[in-house]
Amino acid sequence: MNQIQENQIDLTQTSAERPAESGSELAAGLVSQFSMKDGTEVSLRPIHPGDEPLMAQFHQTLSGRSVYMRYFCSISLEARLAHERLVRICHVDREREVALVVDYTNKSSGKQQILGVGRLIKLDGQNEAEVAILVSDQYQKQGLGTELLRRLIQIARDQKLHRVSGELLRDNLAMQIIVKKLGFRFRLCADSASIPVVLEL
Ligand SMILES: CC(C)(COP(=O)(O)OP(=O)(O)OC[C@H]1O[C@@H](n2cnc3c(N)ncnc32)[C@H](O)[C@@H]1OP(=O)(O)O)[C@@H](O)C(=O)NCCC(=O)NCCS
Repeated sequence: MNQIQENQIDLTQTSAERPAESGSELAAGLVSQFSMKDGTEVSLRPIHPGDEPLMAQFHQTLSGRSVYMRYFCSISLEARLAHERLVRICHVDREREVALVVDYTNKSSGKQQILGVGRLIKLDGQNEAEVAILVSDQYQKQGLGTELLRRLIQIARDQKLHRVSGELLRDNLAMQIIVKKLGFRFRLCADSASIPVVLEL
C-alpha cells in the first residue's frame, strides 16, 4: 500500500503542542476508546504530523516478520526511520485517507506510545478503499488488530463507500482470522502467495 500523499498540515507543531484530539475529530467519530484483552485502556485516534517521534519508536517494536506481513517485503529499520518516510506516513491527505493510531499513555510514567496503526485509502475514481493494519509485536493478540479494522470499516460506511478491500499473505493466519470474523470474502488459491479480501458495505 503506497498511495499516501502529503497534505498541508502545520509541520511546525510538535506532539506536545498539539491537542490529543481535536473537536472536529470527536465530532466526526474518529476518536474512540478501547479496552484491550488484558484490560489496558487505549484510544484510537487519527494520526497527526507531531506523531513522528512516536512512530519512530513504534517501528522499533516491530519484528521482521510483522514488517514483511504488512509491506510484503523486508524494509530495514534504518529505511523505516528515515525522516522523509516518517513525515510522509504521519501526514495524510484527509480527502482520501484515514490513518488511525492506537494511542496508549502509561498512567504512572506518563509515557505515550503508539501500539498500532491502521489505514484506509480511497481508490481513485471508485467508491472503494483499501485497508492495512499493523500492531506492535508485544501488543498483538490483545484485540487491537480486530478493533482497528472494525473502526476503519465503520468509517468507510460513514463515508458511504461501497467496498473495503485488502490483501494479505497466505500464511498470515492472524489476518485471516480477523477478516473472516468481520465478514470479508476471500478465497485461498493454491498457486498464489497473497489473498485479496473484499467486504461489500
Ligand atoms: C495481523 C495483526 C494486525 C493482528 O493484530 P492483533 O492485534 O494481534 O489482532 P487480534 O488481537 O485482534 O487477533 C485477532 C485474532 O487472531 C489471532 N492471532 C493473532 N496473532 C496470531 C498469530 N500470530 N497466530 C495465530 N493467531 C493469531 C488472535 O488470537 C485472534 O483470534 P480470536 O479472535 O479467535 O481471539 C498483527 O498480527 C500484525 O500487525 N501483523 C503484522 C502486519 C500484518 O500482518 N498486517 C496485515 C496485512 S495488511
